[in-house]
Amino acid sequence: MAPVRTHKSPDIDRHVTTMIEALGLTKVFGELTAVDNLTFTVSPGEIYGLLGPNGSGKSTTMRMLLGLLRPTSGTARVAGHDILTEMVQAKRVMGYVPEEPVLPERLTGWEYVNYVSDIWRIPRGPERNQEIEELMTLLDIFDASDDLIETYSKGMARKLSLVAALIHKPRVLILDEVQAGIDPRGAATIKEILNGLRERGATILMSTHVLEIAERMCNRIGIIKEGGLIAEGTMEQLRQRAAGQSSLEEIFLTLTGGPDMQLIAKFLEDVNRE
Ligand SMILES: Nc1ncnc2c1ncn2[C@@H]1O[C@H](COP(=O)(O)OP(=O)(O)O)[C@@H](O)[C@H]1O
Ligand SMILES: [Mg+2]
Repeated sequence: MAPVRTHKSPDIDRHVTTMIEALGLTKVFGELTAVDNLTFTVSPGEIYGLLGPNGSGKSTTMRMLLGLLRPTSGTARVAGHDILTEMVQAKRVMGYVPEEPVLPERLTGWEYVNYVSDIWRIPRGPERNQEIEELMTLLDIFDASDDLIETYSKGMARKLSLVAALIHKPRVLILDEVQAGIDPRGAATIKEILNGLRERGATILMSTHVLEIAERMCNRIGIIKEGGLIAEGTMEQLRQRAAGQSSLEEIFLTLTGGPDMQLIAKFLEDVNRE
């Protein structure tokens, strides 16, 4: 795990005890309250998972933190910077991998990461080239670095998007369903990379609708339902709480296959008995 480094600024870190602080974040789309008064904090060095079924407001929450959507009400602080009044500073410390990365298909992977590096004003030269090569090698896409992005599989595109998100050594990484469409080996690599980044002081907010991914990857999990946080804790704590609470139990059922799976299992049981 040597190649991944994060930029740490002790001067800033000393004053920041929470890297992400959502304060009553709310987003209303017409009749729908997609994110409903959401408050949570992520500490430095934590991998925090937003876990919830499709449509529960995970992506919308992230897009507000990133300054891509304006909250209807509430705000958040990222590395101490208020997203409503200090978005430029907040953006500098964040890296983002969207749910469906939209990449310039007519560029090669190498060209794209260099383009992103230029945007961040990372000086061109051997050091930068080496950094890009190391990240691409680590994610197993360096062999395709001279191929056009249009030839990349979905998983490769997401890995490339992750390389581009890491290139400015962000202290806060926001990953939306980052493991979707990535093969088990790639998923294991990503897990290692995230852990490596965490050990170097990065803070990670990730979303997933897959219980096993949250369990495998996250130190702490917030369960989100219809835009609101209904429980928070380690997986162990959540499992214990789920036993007694119908809404939590329902979410766990949805996330582990849902009532359909139960019906199918029941059906098969009945068939076997006949
Ligand atoms: N730009 C938008 N306009 C209207 N409704 C939206 C928009 N973006 C998301 N939504 C709705 O908000 C809800 C939450 O969506 P989203 O945050 O994408 O959920 P998740 O990421 O948890 O699957 C969904 O019902 C979705 O249809
Ligand atoms: Mg989403």
